[in-house]
Amino acid sequence: MFKIKLGILTTLVGVCSFNTQAQRKTISQRVDSVLKLMSLDEKVGQLNQYSGRNLTGPLTEQNRNVQKDIKDGLVGSMLNVHGVKDTRQIQEIAMQSRLKIPLLFSMDVVHGYRTIFPVPLGEAASWDLDIMRQTAHAAAAEAAAAGLHWTFAPMVDIARDPRWGRVMEGAGEDTYLGSKIAKARVLGFQGAKLGATDAVMACAKHFAAYGAVLAARDYAEVEMSEHELWETYLPPFKAAQDAGAATFMSAFNTLNGVPAAASNYLQRDILKGKWQYNGFVVSDWGSIDQMIKWGYVANKKDAALKAILSGCDMDMMSRSYLEHLKTLLAEKKVSIKLLDDAVKRILTKKFEMGLFDDPYRFCNEDRERSTLRNAEFLKLAREAAQKSIVLLKNQDHLLPLQTGIRQTIAVIGPLANSKRDMLGNWTGAGDADNVVTLAAGLKQKFVQSKQLIIVNGTDVKGSDTSGIQAAVDAARKADIVIMALGEGGEMSGESKSRTDLSLPGRQQQLFNAVQAVGKPVIAVIMAGRPLIFGGIANKAHAVIYGWFLGDQTGNALADVLAGDYNPSGKLPVTFPRSVGQIPISYQMYKTGHPWVAAASGYQTGYIDMPNTPQYAFGYGLSYTSFKYSDLKLDKQVITGNGSITASFTLTNTGNCNGEEVVQLYINDPIASVVQPIKKLKDFQKVALKSGESRLISFMIDKDKLAFYNQQLQWAAEPGKFKLLLGSASDDIRLQSEFELK
Ligand code: NOJ
Repeated sequence: MFKIKLGILTTLVGVCSFNTQAQRKTISQRVDSVLKLMSLDEKVGQLNQYSGRNLTGPLTEQNRNVQKDIKDGLVGSMLNVHGVKDTRQIQEIAMQSRLKIPLLFSMDVVHGYRTIFPVPLGEAASWDLDIMRQTAHAAAAEAAAAGLHWTFAPMVDIARDPRWGRVMEGAGEDTYLGSKIAKARVLGFQGAKLGATDAVMACAKHFAAYGAVLAARDYAEVEMSEHELWETYLPPFKAAQDAGAATFMSAFNTLNGVPAAASNYLQRDILKGKWQYNGFVVSDWGSIDQMIKWGYVANKKDAALKAILSGCDMDMMSRSYLEHLKTLLAEKKVSIKLLDDAVKRILTKKFEMGLFDDPYRFCNEDRERSTLRNAEFLKLAREAAQKSIVLLKNQDHLLPLQTGIRQTIAVIGPLANSKRDMLGNWTGAGDADNVVTLAAGLKQKFVQSKQLIIVNGTDVKGSDTSGIQAAVDAARKADIVIMALGEGGEMSGESKSRTDLSLPGRQQQLFNAVQAVGKPVIAVIMAGRPLIFGGIANKAHAVIYGWFLGDQTGNALADVLAGDYNPSGKLPVTFPRSVGQIPISYQMYKTGHPWVAAASGYQTGYIDMPNTPQYAFGYGLSYTSFKYSDLKLDKQVITGNGSITASFTLTNTGNCNGEEVVQLYINDPIASVVQPIKKLKDFQKVALKSGESRLISFMIDKDKLAFYNQQLQWAAEPGKFKLLLGSASDDIRLQSEFELK
């Protein structure tokens, strides 16, 4: 007995300490040497993840059990334990286990840990990859300073159905933009290198096709062609992997009849096979034993079997592996090789994070204190919020508000002064007290020149109309009205699908009453998804889409309203006119009966509404204007692996500085798999001073013309192509043709 213990001790010193010999060992050798020491129970334990929201609180029976499991080496990772004090306390328990294998601490740090940045869909509207990388990095730096090692983000699911509450968590509808953002966010979360103490491991989720759940019912089934899967839904995952995403999370949905957590096709064939992924896959919360509820397996043991065989390495919260893997091994249904592979993947990440060298390296109180909500992050949060704002309408240049003149502004609506809502959903360890609301931001901005009257009018939801009269009275006294309307912060996100995308409660009634007073109205709409608000868009003089912008909401909106920041956001997702148009994307097809505006007859579309959306993908106004001119291609033909360069002049023709998101779309008019009318293939966000011109160039090669053909090969077909350059998917300013030979 003593001998064995001594043996373990000496080996672990070799594996875990800072001695130079250990440092010289490669991680894979170090992983193997730990693996050799592990019992079957300990191996299975590494694959087990528990939530521990109140684990450091009162010692309830449940907490006692979890703590015992940790001490027994039966837990590989915890979610929802965060903060240096708590993570240290729980890691100390893991250090009492036989092999002292450190725990991985994880949490959904989606758009901020303590400093809350705009919700991901909102931030995607910035089309600013660098700011997205920076906010992900800041979120990671805070999370890492709070003892965390791993975030369940980014969500890279493409979503073309705004009824789905989780559209808020992603980057919108477009595969190209979504892939670029996936990369930026992974690089941001993971920082310079796994193991840096200002970064955490990323998790690309939810693998795969979750954004296409039928009728937007969360957790539902997905029936999808191979072609659609490869063309639209998988590329952002591949981009996340290529950027180095340490982990993947499987999805709750089925894909063509198979629960994603049991999908051999997704996890083994594609991810670990074709893509050679070397990170690990975690299931979603309880999704392994949910296979029983799906009707895919009869019991938890079969669920565990299906999940492990199909490549799911870690079981989040279902205990299926813990309870059944050992028996499945004894029955020879699961091989030790398979189990070892999963364990090795997890241990490798623990080594890469430096946890074997020091399990407490993310537990530093001083770092925690100085990192959370530091001045640099607050500045970044304001900048990211400014860039996420989309100006949808600006009749007669009502905006920006003139700062010099004395005016009375009525700020009306349930979201004018609501701190909690501004955080949106998935709020990490954010604190609503830190939020600057629109009312607060305006007060600060206009302290000299404007008198503000702030009135709620109605609640976000509910049928109380008793405050509407006060809102009308305020509008009468005012020169200008700003209305803050929209959804509640928790009306989007997981399990928050809606069938009605209009403003909830009595907000439309409030708007109508206030608007009838006759003062110019600026509507600021806030939501985690595209809402349908045609009745407001038509009547308001100006409309701003403000998503949920996080801590700095009010400052950023006030900056835009006052013209201190010229809005530059563009919609990353189509805004429908009606729920009946959903699912909707700018990537429509011509069909055999093309849709022609204002025509009637046998054409694709509806008899009661045009096909066009309320606001198109890529749309967003600025206080200035941009001219696109002089498009030139350096050649007309691409041959072999060559490319062409398209250049044009972009000029800021208005009288203030601004930024334009120049969008490049490709049209492939004849293809062996019929192609959408246009597909985004590149973009640049360009800052120009008033009057300034710049030559903008794009390179187009075969890859930008490729698609998944009938054999599911990524290939470009020779023929003619159209290149379309514009300010939005429905605002093409320049076009040209070229050929691929
Ligand atoms: C369920 C969600 O689907 C997933 O996105 C999240 O990461 C986990 N719960 C953990 O909170």
